Amino acid sequence: MPEVAGASGKDRLSSRFLRDWLLPQWKWFGLGTVFAAITAVCAWGYSQILSNATDWMKDGDQRIFTVAPMVIIALVLLRAPAMYWQTQCNNRGVQNAVVNLQGALFGGLIEGDFARLQSKASGEYVSQFANDMVLIREAALRVATNLAKSTLTILAAVVFMLMTDWMLTLVLLVVYPIAFAPVVQLGNRVRKNSKRSQEQAGELTSVLNEAFQGARTVKAFGLEGYQKKRAEHGFAERARLYMKVLRAKALVDPFLEMIGGLALAGLFAFAGWRAMSGDLTVGGLVGIIVAIGVASPEIRALGTLNAVVNEGLAAAARIYALLDEKRKVADKPGAAVMGRARGEVAFDDVSFGYGTDDVVLRGLSFKAEPGQTVAIVGPSGAGKSTVFSLLMRLYEARGGAVTLDGQDVRDVTLASLRGNIALVSQDAFLFDATLRENIALGRSGASEDEIRAAAKAAACDFIETVPGGWAAMAGEGGRNLSGGQRQRIALARALVSDAPVLLLDEATSALDSESEARIQQALAGLAGKRTIIVVAHRLATVRRADRIFVMENGVVAEAGSHDELLAKAGVYARMIQHQLT
Ligand SMILES: Nc1ncnc2c1ncn2[C@@H]1O[C@H](COP(=O)(O)OP(=O)(O)O)[C@@H](O)[C@H]1O
Ligand SMILES: [Mg+2]
Repeated sequence: MPEVAGASGKDRLSSRFLRDWLLPQWKWFGLGTVFAAITAVCAWGYSQILSNATDWMKDGDQRIFTVAPMVIIALVLLRAPAMYWQTQCNNRGVQNAVVNLQGALFGGLIEGDFARLQSKASGEYVSQFANDMVLIREAALRVATNLAKSTLTILAAVVFMLMTDWMLTLVLLVVYPIAFAPVVQLGNRVRKNSKRSQEQAGELTSVLNEAFQGARTVKAFGLEGYQKKRAEHGFAERARLYMKVLRAKALVDPFLEMIGGLALAGLFAFAGWRAMSGDLTVGGLVGIIVAIGVASPEIRALGTLNAVVNEGLAAAARIYALLDEKRKVADKPGAAVMGRARGEVAFDDVSFGYGTDDVVLRGLSFKAEPGQTVAIVGPSGAGKSTVFSLLMRLYEARGGAVTLDGQDVRDVTLASLRGNIALVSQDAFLFDATLRENIALGRSGASEDEIRAAAKAAACDFIETVPGGWAAMAGEGGRNLSGGQRQRIALARALVSDAPVLLLDEATSALDSESEARIQQALAGLAGKRTIIVVAHRLATVRRADRIFVMENGVVAEAGSHDELLAKAGVYARMIQHQLT
């Protein structure tokens, strides 16, 4: 992940963030600034009226009873609503920006490379959504509020002070900035610590997710203690890292407190001297103290602003790192849009590995003619699921060519390629939606009749008997259903799609033999109309395939029909022998 390099990198990041996300909300921030200006003018008014009132009191002027209370009430009535509306406008602008940013981040991830989604524990992205967005929201809100309200209020106070006693004001203006340098340094420390803290937060989310999702295994093996230890270690580590952030943050306020105290002491000494020499009235001094009082919280807010903004920028850098990462699997410029394929699938001398030096496929070749049913068999870990991933171009082959209807999968758009393929994946994943929706997702616009027909072909009669029927929720990942029920819904989803190529990855492995037989019958009905590639271990599933490819060590070791392969008495024959005995 690229570090926010130096001051210029940070500036570039800030201006990019402003342009991309905050600038589009300029109307809200502009309106907020108008209200901020009103509060600042009122702050100036406070100093002025209190200064005057003090002198009126000293001189026994009647206006202390009439003008002073009226003006103060008017100022309050103006300033209070202005404060409210400036906060509301800024909040709205920032919330809009964050919603847009979340949309962009999620879109970037879900539309981006499959490999990237696979490479990280899901918790890391989930926690990025939670934590980074909080940091960004906080920083943007502080920038919007402080830049307008604080600077304008401070400016108003300074103008008033200059008009009252310019010499005193100049002294204050010189001393304050010098005292602020260490605060900036503290801010940098916060940023550094917060980065590590965020990364660890993601790891912790993964640990928690895993413990809850794997609850069955945890309970069955009595692993509660083991999981507790892992989680507690994570909690402690989180607290330790977070303490570092908090410590740096905690130092900021006392530091500012100290500066304020020293300034006040100096002020009295200096102002006393000015008053004695007659250059400053009592009213003037009161006015200056009020001005400092009004400006101080704003100065303190500006002092901590740096730290908060740095945290926000660190979060923005993490998000930009994801948004900017170039997609490895993407449409080529001018990629052809593939129409409905006939369904000829071919692998020609394909080699592939997931990492840089592992080899899963080493020169794999096979071909499925349109309308054929083809089976791929082989030991688990042989690379069967990988073949499907390459055909859908979730990953790209390292060497050789993967083709559909003779077209290299890299030369056509991803959408048109995948639109020609329906998959039942090994995990038979269901969404937490109704059973009906889970099937209907196979093809948008599928009619009710088509959905029912697909469910029937996939032996989904159990839908009628589960509580809720078609409207029953599948649960997260489909956990409200049994493994075999999940597989049948997933199969129905693939059948609703009328894609010419149907990929079944151990899609019936959890089924009873009766359901399986019904599904085989339905698939037989598709023979000649769709190219079906089946990965399976069971003899009953494999034997009626037109052609069987046996994978071993990353290549096709044997190919032929069931009878031909049996006659060969090779790997396939041995595998079948094991099942029969
Ligand atoms: N996402 C992945 N990252 C790294 N290695 C993987 C990944 N998926 C699969 N593999 C490895 O690739 C090999 C083939 O896996 P797979 O195609 O799933 O086998 P099969 O489906 O034949 O059981 C295995 O050795 C497996 O460990
Ligand atoms: Mg597999």
